[in-house]
Amino acid sequence: MRVAMIGAGYVGLVSGACFADFGHDVCCVDKDPAKIDALNRGEIPIFEPGLAELVAKNVREGRLTFAGDLSDAVKSAEAVFIAVGTPSRRGDGHADLTYVYQAARDIAAAMDGYTVVVTKSTVPVGTGDEVERIIRETRPDADFAVVSNPEFLREGAAITDFKRPDRIVIGTEDERAKGVMTEIYRPLYLNQSPLLAMSRRTAELTKYAANAFLATKITFINEIADLCEQVGANVQDVARGIGLDNRIGSKFLHAGPGYGGSCFPKDTLALIKTAQDYEAPIRIVETVAAVNAQRKRAMGRKVVAACGGSVRGKTIAVLGLTFKPNTDDMRDAPSIDVITTLQDAGANIRAYDPEGMEAAKAVLTNVDYAKDAYDCARNADALVIVTEWDLFRALDLTRLKAALAEPVVVDLRNVYRPDEMQRRGFTYMSVGRL
Ligand code: UDX
Repeated sequence: MRVAMIGAGYVGLVSGACFADFGHDVCCVDKDPAKIDALNRGEIPIFEPGLAELVAKNVREGRLTFAGDLSDAVKSAEAVFIAVGTPSRRGDGHADLTYVYQAARDIAAAMDGYTVVVTKSTVPVGTGDEVERIIRETRPDADFAVVSNPEFLREGAAITDFKRPDRIVIGTEDERAKGVMTEIYRPLYLNQSPLLAMSRRTAELTKYAANAFLATKITFINEIADLCEQVGANVQDVARGIGLDNRIGSKFLHAGPGYGGSCFPKDTLALIKTAQDYEAPIRIVETVAAVNAQRKRAMGRKVVAACGGSVRGKTIAVLGLTFKPNTDDMRDAPSIDVITTLQDAGANIRAYDPEGMEAAKAVLTNVDYAKDAYDCARNADALVIVTEWDLFRALDLTRLKAALAEPVVVDLRNVYRPDEMQRRGFTYMSVGRL
């Protein structure tokens, strides 16, 4: 199969490299010439475990190429994937579809022969209809179908998620397009991954429903964690106690500083807006978004409380900045709210993150960056763990305690055990545990 991938961002690059690895002939197109030049030099613009190797292998074997212009790639492709960004529109929270619609116009102008146009970007219900209308308007003669095929990739585990998906969702009522999509995903299909065919609008909504449900699950356990602290219960035991019930499931029940990242905050807001527009408001998700937004700053206040009620003039060491481990992504990271709350309260911040410090410099001001975790802790009045990088699980606690001016640790990811930390003489606070 010949595949064109429009957008060489996170989703486009991972999907393109994985499709090439299945044996398809893939061209990833991006309008940013610097990105294409870098990819052609073998440099990967994002940090994702295993991606650099996968790209290099498929480029070497001739199945993966990069281009700045989509014409040639689209002309020869049987399937063209739209994997461009859909950021939250400033002001109203709706998904901004400018890039998707521009891609549809550009694809329409270039396509030749029967072409399946696939939206992989997360797009509100009805976007496929609009993409179809735009293509038809631009090229009344075109022979094509528009399919929704949302991705469910987690950053940091994207390649595994792509190659071993829980399911593949294919939204189309066009039988020929269904055939092309089945062929593209054949290696997974043969590997027993369920391939779910449904209407295009249903597929579009399924993506939002999945992310909103997961965000709800996290927010639920976060609120239970707050209650645990008040009543003297342990949230990890509660999570295990409910998670082993198959109807609930044990995943996404880790209490923490609130969800962040490029998907959950944006997708919950977009779902809320769509539901309001159709006069079918989803109140539970409205509440989830509001609770999560408040939680991030509340975590800053938790650190202030751990420091005896004031952080004015104190140095707070922050370990972990990215919204989760194994990524360099700072989008909607809880660390931003935690740090700004502490700065507003008069604290000086010293931070360390294995991959996120460059990206952090663009969103945070007045932060000193350390060269490692111990350097970060040096003479600090408290240490806060915001992101659970594996590196922080294996710290030498004796060395850490010696580095700190005050042995105060606020562990927002429940990385350490309260009994052990107390035994070692730390003043230790975590989430949902005493
Ligand atoms: C998510 C979805 O998982 C993926 O299917 C979708 O396609 C894109 O959005 P991602 O944003 O990469 O993926 O990260 P994920 O691992 O889902 O974590 C999202 C946020 O929730 C992170 O801030 C994480 O720290 C937080 N989280 C996750 C928790 O606080 N507790 C949990 O139990 C799980």
